[in-house]
Amino acid sequence: MMRIQFPEHFLWGAATAAFQIEGSPDADGKSPSIWDRFTARTGRIRDASNAAVACDHYRRYREDLDLMATLGLGAYRFSVSWPRVVSAPERPVNQVGLDFYDRLVDGLLQRGIKPFVTLYHWDLPWFEQQRGGWEARSTAWRFADYTELVARRLGDRVKHWVTINEPLTIVTAGYVSGDHAPGHRNPLMAFRVAHHLLLAHGAALERLRQVVPGALVGPALNLFPVIPRRRSDIRLAEHIDALVNRLFADPILVGRYPGPVRRLLSLFNWTLRPGDLELIGQPVDFVGVNHYSRIIIERTRLPWIGFRLARSPDPNAVHTDMDWEIYPRSFLDTLTWLRERYGNPVVYVTENGAAFADRVEADGSVRDVARRDYLEAYLFMLRTALDAGSNVRGYFVWSLLDNFEWALGLSKRFGLIHVDYQSLRRTPKASALWYASVCRDGGFDLPEAMYRSLLATALDDSLDLIEEHDLARAKP
Ligand code: FCB
Repeated sequence: MMRIQFPEHFLWGAATAAFQIEGSPDADGKSPSIWDRFTARTGRIRDASNAAVACDHYRRYREDLDLMATLGLGAYRFSVSWPRVVSAPERPVNQVGLDFYDRLVDGLLQRGIKPFVTLYHWDLPWFEQQRGGWEARSTAWRFADYTELVARRLGDRVKHWVTINEPLTIVTAGYVSGDHAPGHRNPLMAFRVAHHLLLAHGAALERLRQVVPGALVGPALNLFPVIPRRRSDIRLAEHIDALVNRLFADPILVGRYPGPVRRLLSLFNWTLRPGDLELIGQPVDFVGVNHYSRIIIERTRLPWIGFRLARSPDPNAVHTDMDWEIYPRSFLDTLTWLRERYGNPVVYVTENGAAFADRVEADGSVRDVARRDYLEAYLFMLRTALDAGSNVRGYFVWSLLDNFEWALGLSKRFGLIHVDYQSLRRTPKASALWYASVCRDGGFDLPEAMYRSLLATALDDSLDLIEEHDLARAKP
């Protein structure tokens, strides 16, 4: 066995999001969100489920807090539902909605668990959508007002704040493919929405600094390597990388848009206002990184888009139940990229994990060996990034519980803890028991063969060109 040990104060956590676990969509004065409306439309959710109950966490949060304590989590990342806190335009704060998060935070602190609060994990109030949603610039400032309400209530106990979760997914799924709320297919709108989400990040950050002394603030960006399928796709891959990863990371971390985005913006004849990039580019205290896999792209003649996602050419490639390739090396590459490109910022891995079709066995156990393997391999790469000097301070598994996976409904299980959606019974999976030992000991043992193969992967520097590497590897 080889020991993979992390620094003493490394923070071990798990993450969730309000809409995916809470249920109780109309309780205590909560108003509908765009996701309540979206899930009510036929054909939008693959298994025709909705999140009206989800994990019923709004009512069972005490049980969930106890489960977190059993796991020995050092931190818990959850999101606040904006429409629970503000139930109508110009209405004062809905204190009863905020009370819930107040109790949750107290419950965490009583159990020695650090709260990480995400302010926006996709559940925009429906009334804000009717006022223009993220297409309207003013939404960014209303987000800052809502942030202030939350900060005034929780800021005496919460130090870590995540502004916007995965702005890229909001743009691509909400405004390009239409798979997520609000379900638009309007690529012309995409950059406007992206800019407003960035402004919202900046405005909220500024507000937090005013209201919470010592607040630690950052965004949660989904970052991943963009790999060219063929040598002739290299330039294209760089271009896509600018449009997906650097679109958000550059303005936030260096205060300007990447070149290709600037060119597109001028094409759309759409101008930034003076001061915007200063607001967006204010120093953050950390970068939250959500990472699951890499993408492989190839050129096509598709009008407008000009590229498509390719499958891994590696015949041995293994995919999760999301059909995402398990490719731990991409985690190392993402962390290296952040360190080298952006001057080694403080990083929290705010999401990493995998969905598998888990089931509870007759003896009551859930043997999710594949999830443990996934987490071990990705954590190995994280440890390698630390060795190389990356400033990663903590790691959150997505997710604490099986939950409502957006357009895929209840069909994808990401949890360390299994949830039976009929009885709402929680069953810690084998991976949860393993993760509890990681939280306790700050590391884990790897079988030597696995260690050696991961080490070889981490050291292999010929990986980024699919054509030459994976194809060569694929040959018998
Ligand atoms: C991320 C989301 C999170 C969850 C995971 C699987 O994109 O932030 O809510 O759906 O993917």
